[in-house]
Amino acid sequence: MEPESASARPQRVALAGEIDLEGFRCAARRLLQQGVAPDDIEWTVAGAISTGLFAAADDAVSEGPSVTPAPAAGPSLRVPAEFMTLCADLVQHADTTRFHRLYRLLWRLQREPGLRDDALDPEMAEARRMAQTVRRERHKMKAFVRFREVDDAAGPSPAPPGPLHVAWFDPAHHVVEAVAPFFMRRFAGMRFAILTPERSVHWDGHTLRLAAGVGRQSAPPADAGEALWLTYYASIFNPARLKLKAMEKEMPRRYWTLLPEATLISGLAAHAQERSLRMVEQAPTQPLRRLASAGPKLPPQPAMQAAAPDAAHTLAAHRSAAAACRACPLGALATQTVFGEGPPGAALMLVGEQPGDQEDLQGRPFVGPAGQLLVRAMAQLGWPRAGLYITNAVKHFKYEPQITPRGKRRIHKTPAQREADACLPWLEREIEAVAPQAIVALGATAARQLLGRPVAVMRERGQWVHRSDGLPVLVTLHPSALLRMAPEEREAAYGDWLADLERASRYGRQPLAGDATDAPGGAQDATDGESPGQAR
Ligand code: URA
Repeated sequence: MEPESASARPQRVALAGEIDLEGFRCAARRLLQQGVAPDDIEWTVAGAISTGLFAAADDAVSEGPSVTPAPAAGPSLRVPAEFMTLCADLVQHADTTRFHRLYRLLWRLQREPGLRDDALDPEMAEARRMAQTVRRERHKMKAFVRFREVDDAAGPSPAPPGPLHVAWFDPAHHVVEAVAPFFMRRFAGMRFAILTPERSVHWDGHTLRLAAGVGRQSAPPADAGEALWLTYYASIFNPARLKLKAMEKEMPRRYWTLLPEATLISGLAAHAQERSLRMVEQAPTQPLRRLASAGPKLPPQPAMQAAAPDAAHTLAAHRSAAAACRACPLGALATQTVFGEGPPGAALMLVGEQPGDQEDLQGRPFVGPAGQLLVRAMAQLGWPRAGLYITNAVKHFKYEPQITPRGKRRIHKTPAQREADACLPWLEREIEAVAPQAIVALGATAARQLLGRPVAVMRERGQWVHRSDGLPVLVTLHPSALLRMAPEEREAAYGDWLADLERASRYGRQPLAGDATDAPGGAQDATDGESPGQAR
């Protein structure tokens, strides 16, 4: 039986905001010390924007006969650490009884020491379930926020650098403040606003600011980037891997109105079976006749001559020498050598692993599915392809011929270390001739060859590392790694990858010397991306 309440009329505690954990903690401690029973307390939340994670949070406002926000003096209360974690999650739940529930558990923990280890206690189990729901909602917000570029000409003057990206989201729980720092880290170099009915989050590249919520009518309309994203989504949609149930579990229908790609799902799903059958029947790609030495036809690169004529000749000489390279057995298997492309003098060089099926046939790096993903990322980052030098650690396609009833298929095989090493002189010559200011290593093979040591990509991703010659290298995943993921994981992983790449934006957006037309807006903004000295 619970002790009698300390006061006849319920005590009202008004917390400063929906997620005022510190206010709750102070008030709960005081009330417990005063022996106020859970049913004698009315927990209310002020409409004000909570300072939450963004400032010191001891601003609980209390009303009623005996509760004050100041921390209570007197004997300290013992609360298991695990319970504090539970509180931190549960205060973000939308259930209006959450503070009551938490206080009830605290009250019981003081009186029933065995409660902390009682896995079957219904109140504790329900609280854990609610905390889990909150954690899931945070994850969903990270995965399903979609930014659209907006014209903010009417915004602050002078306008901060870079376009403003705005997203609208409607979380089911009070998770916005908890998730905001994630977006700040992920899109550190991008100005953005996330609008929700309860809160808005604004990041100008320096400060994260909270403002009042807004209605859905404030969501920006679709932009050109979105059209590109829809085209891309439709093209990578693999009908043979469609599992509608699993997809709906990961991407519940509630979020579909927020996701532009969701408009495509029913149409794609309706034709999935027919498309899978067509894919099975399709003839495999066949290698073209092998090209011994002629280089591929490149798209015009006007900056090549303009920037550094000597380097351009050196690079052209390396390209034709590499076309006949037989330093390892791969040269004899592939259709042709796929040398790098891009202007000497490019500030940024991107290095992949090796050409794939399409690259081998077309003689250009990153033109197949992985290349399309890379192109999409570059478009979003504002990196013009023609301004970058794009190459691979290994210049020949390595594959395993696979016999199927319809003929041979060429299945990508990771190059052996000795094959990558045989190709290293070409990569080093490209670096020397292009003289980039920074390099992005896409995947483990590129990172290893560039840095001369094995690299654990997942551990070192997003970081600037210096080569022995001082050149900064940013390590990140290879786009193929994203393509291999299940569709429901891919979007969040893509966002993380974009955030890695964004760190090289100050190089990726840099126009070539003597070519002011290549970069969007002409002049380069030195604050884009970051310099390797700022590596995290
Ligand atoms: N993967 C690579 O690493 N490089 C390419 O050019 C294409 C796919």
